[in-house]
Amino acid sequence: MSSSALSRRLALRWGAVTFGSAALGSVALSACSRGAANEVSSEISPFDDEVRAAEQSRFRSGRTVERNLTAAPARVNLGGRHVDTWSYGAEAVGPEIRISKGDRLNLRLQNDLSSETSVHWHGIAIRNDMDGVPPITQERIQPGAEFTYDFVAPDHGTYWYHSHSGLQADRGLFGALVVEDPNGRTGADEDVVIVIDDWLDGLGTTPDAVLRALSPEVPGGHHGHGGPPPEIDEAEIDSAAQLLEDGHGSSTALGGMATHITYPLHLINGRPAEDPFVVSAPAGTRLRLRVINAGAETPYRFSVAGHELTVVSADGQDVSYAVGDEILIAPAQRYDVLVTVQSGSWPIAAKVEGKTGGAACLLRTPDSVASVDLTSPAVLSVSSGRLLLESVLRPFGALEHQVPDREYSVDLIQAGDRYVWGMAGADAGRLIMKQGERIRIVMNNNTDMWHPMHTHGHTFSVPSYGGLRRDTVISLPRTQLAIDFDADNPGRWMFHCHNAYHFEAGMTADLHYVR
Ligand code: C2O
Ligand code: CU
Repeated sequence: MSSSALSRRLALRWGAVTFGSAALGSVALSACSRGAANEVSSEISPFDDEVRAAEQSRFRSGRTVERNLTAAPARVNLGGRHVDTWSYGAEAVGPEIRISKGDRLNLRLQNDLSSETSVHWHGIAIRNDMDGVPPITQERIQPGAEFTYDFVAPDHGTYWYHSHSGLQADRGLFGALVVEDPNGRTGADEDVVIVIDDWLDGLGTTPDAVLRALSPEVPGGHHGHGGPPPEIDEAEIDSAAQLLEDGHGSSTALGGMATHITYPLHLINGRPAEDPFVVSAPAGTRLRLRVINAGAETPYRFSVAGHELTVVSADGQDVSYAVGDEILIAPAQRYDVLVTVQSGSWPIAAKVEGKTGGAACLLRTPDSVASVDLTSPAVLSVSSGRLLLESVLRPFGALEHQVPDREYSVDLIQAGDRYVWGMAGADAGRLIMKQGERIRIVMNNNTDMWHPMHTHGHTFSVPSYGGLRRDTVISLPRTQLAIDFDADNPGRWMFHCHNAYHFEAGMTADLHYVR
């Protein structure tokens, strides 16, 4: 990308931030604490030597896994409902990709959509030019074109991949990416991925129509990452508006309102409760569930009826084992949990936090003859006891304590009560850093809503949660939360809210490495 294209993009981003702050009026911009303001230095681009050198230094197994993926329009069967969407295959979730720590993934993406697209590899300490964020790290993949992603995945864990163009990931353009640990510590006998998703596409509306209903004023320009949005018709906007009528719900754990959109359907591994995904394992199996929230805006409470959960990792990062009955999982977060399978047929439930409804699938032992109706309201209505929040989890290996070399203060803001969201602060549009530095970002949530905040290319630690490490953390309304990370992955990265609609409505910033 030319530097003038880049500065145009930055100008747009700054425009959004300024608009948000001006509209808020009373919210003071917090000053950047140290260092960054007057620095004039040269930026490291995704195509520079530093990026290649970082890739060279990553742990490698020597193995290469080759895959093909095609993004295309598809008609998927959701429990008898045939729904038109965009996906990576015949299902409402992309194929699971499984590799081992240190493997190189070589994946050719074919774009058979009528829109530009991209694939982002969420949570992986990836080489910057493979991060899948057009136009920052690569050109947009045009309709009919292809792009080959090629990178080493140096760390084990549960990750996922999704389109990073517009609202495409709230269609079917996402899937699980598991990086196995050959020397895993969990002793699990079996390992099953559980991808939870909130679904509205093709049910009379589309994600783009929903954004229009939420915010007539968010310009198509915020589709900066995806090019012009697809055509939207009035009927789709009308049915989108109906999904906003049920209000915001309310959640104590999330400090107030839960969501704007009431999704008509919730899926596990692309399947609704009427035609559920089934996990079958003999009694006594030590089962590892890799739970991924691929939803665009819905937080879920996850539980397995009749079973205690042992959380072993958060966002692919090992945690000290923590036992409870349910976990709260925000969009883009992942938890790996162990259960010891009990004889019988058991609902696995992902209840919408703060509202009714949710997704369900089945865990059954081969000896079980019981039939369970997962569509019964009882499956999603029981409170299952001890809730484990991320604030009580502790890392298995903490980031070594170090005084930050740079500290940024970023305000998360909303323009009044309009659906316009932003990040403000002296350096909010562009947080610069140098390789080798310890960075602290203090997020001041000045809104009445929670936000799942995500850094690309880096796993951070949360000092107030005992150094818990992850890549997506919940920022609660009207609170402050700091994240620390080592600047060890040069390039240009995004830092944004993973509520897909907040992101599209402006809640995003960039991390830039300089020399
Ligand atoms: Cu899941 Cu910008 O990322
Ligand atoms: Cu948000």
